[in-house]
Amino acid sequence: MAAAEELAVSDRPCLHMISAFLALEPPDIVISYARELGGGSITESVQRCIWLRCISKADLKLQGPFLKRFLKKLINEIESSGEMVLDELYEYYASCLVPLKDDGANVGNSKLLKTISFIFPNGSSKLEVRLRSSVNMLEGDTGCSIWPSSLFMSEFILSFPELFANKCCFEVGSGVGLVGICLSYVKASKVILTDGDFSTLANMKVNLELNNLTTANHTLDSRLHDKMVQCVCLPWESASEDDLHCFTPDIILGADVIYDPSCLPHLVRVLSALLKRKHSYHEPSAGLESDASLEKGAREGEQHPVAYIASVIRNIDTFNYFLALAEKANLVVTDLTEVIKVSDFLPYLRSYDRPNIKIFRIYVSMF
Ligand SMILES: C[S@@+](CC[C@H](N)C(=O)[O-])C[C@H]1O[C@@H](n2cnc3c(N)ncnc32)[C@H](O)[C@@H]1O
Repeated sequence: MAAAEELAVSDRPCLHMISAFLALEPPDIVISYARELGGGSITESVQRCIWLRCISKADLKLQGPFLKRFLKKLINEIESSGEMVLDELYEYYASCLVPLKDDGANVGNSKLLKTISFIFPNGSSKLEVRLRSSVNMLEGDTGCSIWPSSLFMSEFILSFPELFANKCCFEVGSGVGLVGICLSYVKASKVILTDGDFSTLANMKVNLELNNLTTANHTLDSRLHDKMVQCVCLPWESASEDDLHCFTPDIILGADVIYDPSCLPHLVRVLSALLKRKHSYHEPSAGLESDASLEKGAREGEQHPVAYIASVIRNIDTFNYFLALAEKANLVVTDLTEVIKVSDFLPYLRSYDRPNIKIFRIYVSMF
């Protein structure tokens, strides 16, 4: 019998299959990687790799419905191609069919545990982020799901770590907390995550802890250490100048926050209040120097913070409304999407619609 070790985990198809499984990509996607790995069929050594590297490390309680769907498809696929199915896979599938003891307590609990693996371009290292997220996109005012813009924002941060290292970073509408975990990874001096929804904040804190970060609730804790992230309830509608006064970020971030026209005047007011506060900010141009307009933006923003917003433009009228509000607030919005090269750290994540995401830089106009 071929050993799983025959398949080097660092080989691209193997790495992609395992990463796609851990991210709970749709079963068909994981199975297509498995087929690719076996040279067209899901051989015994591929099955053993799936068993050892994926299934046996999974958590039936937090990943049960996914495991059940995945194994059903996998076993069907193997059987219909005439291959033998490993006993372990049959046995595990059978255990998925038995209701869990505390299933009653789990009614309505629609959270899943996903691991997002950022694979560095040299292929030799990766950052694994564990996230409890909801299958219901609307849970927690949409903040309990992982939205594609936060994946792109994370790739942006990991592509230009020197932009964020030693900077005080403040995020609006942080959702599951992925961006904050990446900011902490690139050694931002302070990470402040905010959201207007309480259940989202509670889930965000669970995620920070899952990734060995501790959370601080309030704002003026100067004793924050590098594993500590501040989580603050900040509904844009009620955030006053006073509430915002205690934050002096160098960089403000937001992923997928431009979608609800009724919130936009409040969001722009919050961004504007944070961006207009002067401080001794100087942005390094590392990695972004290829574009002259960015250099100009960086100099103009020298005394002010800068914001980066990643967004899918689902409705052009809503986005144009955001631009009009920003202009009225004397903010300059520059589209960086075509002028910077954000590395692809998530090549295995086929359900991630990367080309539809744009990234903008926002700063205060001097004129
Ligand atoms: C589409 S989700 C994006 C979440 C996360 N940034 C991501 O990309 O995965 C929008 C986030 O903004 C938050 N949000 C929406 N309206 C808000 C408001 N008026 N004040 C504060 N947060 C708000 C939601 O709670 C949610 O976490």
